[in-house]
Amino acid sequence: MVSIDVWNASVDFPIFDAKSRSLKKAVLNKAGGKIGTDSKVPVIEALRDINISVAHGDRVGLVGHNGAGKSTLLRLLSGIYEPTRGHSRIVGKVAPVFDLGVGLDPEMNGIENIMIRGLFLGMTRKQMESRVDEIAEFTELGDYLSMPLRTYSTGMRVRLALGVVTSIDPEILLLDEGIGAVDASFLAKARDRLNDLVKRSGLLVFASHADEMLMELCTKAIWMDKGQVRMQGPIRDVLTAYKGRDPYEHMSQEAMERLGHGSPASAPAGEGA
Ligand SMILES: Nc1ncnc2c1ncn2[C@@H]1O[C@H](COP(=O)(O)OP(=O)(O)OP(=O)(O)O)[C@@H](O)[C@H]1O
Ligand SMILES: [Mg+2]
Repeated sequence: MVSIDVWNASVDFPIFDAKSRSLKKAVLNKAGGKIGTDSKVPVIEALRDINISVAHGDRVGLVGHNGAGKSTLLRLLSGIYEPTRGHSRIVGKVAPVFDLGVGLDPEMNGIENIMIRGLFLGMTRKQMESRVDEIAEFTELGDYLSMPLRTYSTGMRVRLALGVVTSIDPEILLLDEGIGAVDASFLAKARDRLNDLVKRSGLLVFASHADEMLMELCTKAIWMDKGQVRMQGPIRDVLTAYKGRDPYEHMSQEAMERLGHGSPASAPAGEGA
């Protein structure tokens, strides 16, 4: 069974090249984490006293303003960052999808990049060989797949990366925002794959500013505020508190229906579906 536990964990970033008082003053109280002033070296306290338990089957959304600590928390949960103070324990194999483009090589072609990215995410060569055709088809990149990646537009790269990411079998899936660059029609096409991916994974933590995606993929949420956990609970409750209104209020009819909250006449998502 996979799980992640974090006890009283803090993550500091000492800023060694920011010694002057004026800079300290300039950055103080702006968006982001708290900047400590008691030591000689300014320290950004990106995370403070975090206590989190995520268990098998949990799908947790991370919300909060820019600089609140969502991406840093994902890195802590992945084991990439060790807590400066406190403890963390990760049980299970982590597939970190922080930046869809990481691990892609501009000089290699699309097919080669599909292979590399899959290996980076913990798949075996054999598994990737059996999946590469299906991924290639999903991307709809056609002849571009034999061209070097540097000839791709941003959205084309995201298609490739998204194709690979949604084909893996992760135990622990940590997703950071970054799927905003694909066009709407492709995102609609990726939605089912993304949903299947989340169902296949034992545990999901997803940082996002997109309410509809959060409501669709997650059941619980954590609201991060200035490096601290402000609230944890069911996704709808946390989004309502964070946004100051019910997330369903401003949702499109189509999204409501997808989430099983369409018009009263529409059938709720059945168990056998
Ligand atoms: N490598 C780093 N070095 C120094 N400070 C950092 C580093 N990474 C993050 N921080 C700081 O930590 C705090 C949290 O940043 P983080 O990237 O986790 O925020 P976020 O919630 O993901 O924001 P966003 O919504 O903009 O993605 C910010 O104050 C940021 O300036
Ligand atoms: Mg972030």
